[in-house]
Amino acid sequence: MPIPAILRPVSVTRTSEFYRLRMADTQAEIVKGLRTTVQTYGGTFPGPTIRAVRGREVVVRQTNDLTVHTAVHLHGGHVPSRYDGLPMDLVEPGETREYRYPNNQVAASLWYHDHAHGLEAENVYRGLHGAYLLSDPHESSLPLPNGEFDIPLLIRDARIEADGTLQYVRPYDCPHMLVNGKERPYFRVAARKYRLRVYNVSPNRHVSLRFADGAHFAQIASDGGLLATPVTLNELTLTGAERAEIVVDFSRYAVGSSVVLMNTAALDTERPEVLRFDITRRAEDPSRVPDVLATLPPIPKGTVEREFHMSTFPDTRINGRKYDPDRPDVETTLGTSEIWTIRNTLTRKPAGVFHAPHSFHTHLVQFRVLDRDGHPVGPAEAGLKDTVIIHPGETVRIAMTWDDYPGEYVYHCHHMVHSSHGQMGRIDVLPVESQEPDGTSKGITK
Ligand code: C2O
Ligand code: CU
Repeated sequence: MPIPAILRPVSVTRTSEFYRLRMADTQAEIVKGLRTTVQTYGGTFPGPTIRAVRGREVVVRQTNDLTVHTAVHLHGGHVPSRYDGLPMDLVEPGETREYRYPNNQVAASLWYHDHAHGLEAENVYRGLHGAYLLSDPHESSLPLPNGEFDIPLLIRDARIEADGTLQYVRPYDCPHMLVNGKERPYFRVAARKYRLRVYNVSPNRHVSLRFADGAHFAQIASDGGLLATPVTLNELTLTGAERAEIVVDFSRYAVGSSVVLMNTAALDTERPEVLRFDITRRAEDPSRVPDVLATLPPIPKGTVEREFHMSTFPDTRINGRKYDPDRPDVETTLGTSEIWTIRNTLTRKPAGVFHAPHSFHTHLVQFRVLDRDGHPVGPAEAGLKDTVIIHPGETVRIAMTWDDYPGEYVYHCHHMVHSSHGQMGRIDVLPVESQEPDGTSKGITK
């Protein structure tokens, strides 16, 4: 299993790191012995990992040398609207666009991916995704596994034909599971603890990960950063775009043995194996998982409530509407805390059809998941989240505060085939002073 390279800055100033990336087609060996044409950031599949530090700005100049238009979104990032990579803020073929990320949020495993209007599902599928690891002094001070024992795992599905062609097909017609760009790879580990940053970068499917021997592990972080305390699990479900950081202790295995990570949500027609860990050596292990990881901010006390209905038939919509970049669906004012109730209007899992959950993702903010069908969510979902799975028939409530950056943003299902077909809405965060005395707004400018 390869580990995506860390991108090197082209220059560094007192406040900022400057990076350059070129989006271009290249060939990758995803399945052993086959050459596959993919779309990349910087020539690798997945793209290189960007490392950022809280309080230091990251500037990425992206040049589009592909034949399709693109938009680069930092998923989970607290970013001004003009650098958010909105669906219509396109980088046309031949163009260059600069994105500035302030990194004024807590340490988290974020990712960057394509968001071009209507094209995001295919562009991400073809390779436009990469990890963005933000650290902060608190997180770095914890005795967690680090350095070569801190590894991102970018998991996704794909369909690769016998001649190597990457076929863009309907969801769940993708039997190849990839980790960091290789099909069902193996990874040589030492018999000690590892911090694994597990990403589901599949455009269209959720995975449920479990070790073949049922081994437990500790989840230490969710989408937006560290959990308050570690949570012991033996199965981890991630819908597309969700992340979880887990600490796995391989010292329970003998050197020379192996353990396989399985996807228990694989279809009957698919192989469930995702990744094999080969325990090849002993190693010192000064790391540990502290009992207390972080102090979470208080849950926003919502003063505005909104409802969102996520439908599947006849088409994937939010509140019956298809995304229109020219129509704000929600207007709020900077600093407002809100409670959003999101319902998957399918009453149950449709018989004979693949399991079709929706998910919900908002730009700009990390939210908190209050409850699912009225029951408080478990500790693994109680931290900072930017994407939440919503199964058929479920109702999920989330709370967030729209702070720091006024402007246009979007929220959407992160099943990217759904968002590409319009299961997305526009939210305008209005600056406080733009509110007229009669309550109407002057709208926003980017
Ligand atoms: Cu990961 Cu609006 O996206
Ligand atoms: Cu959906």
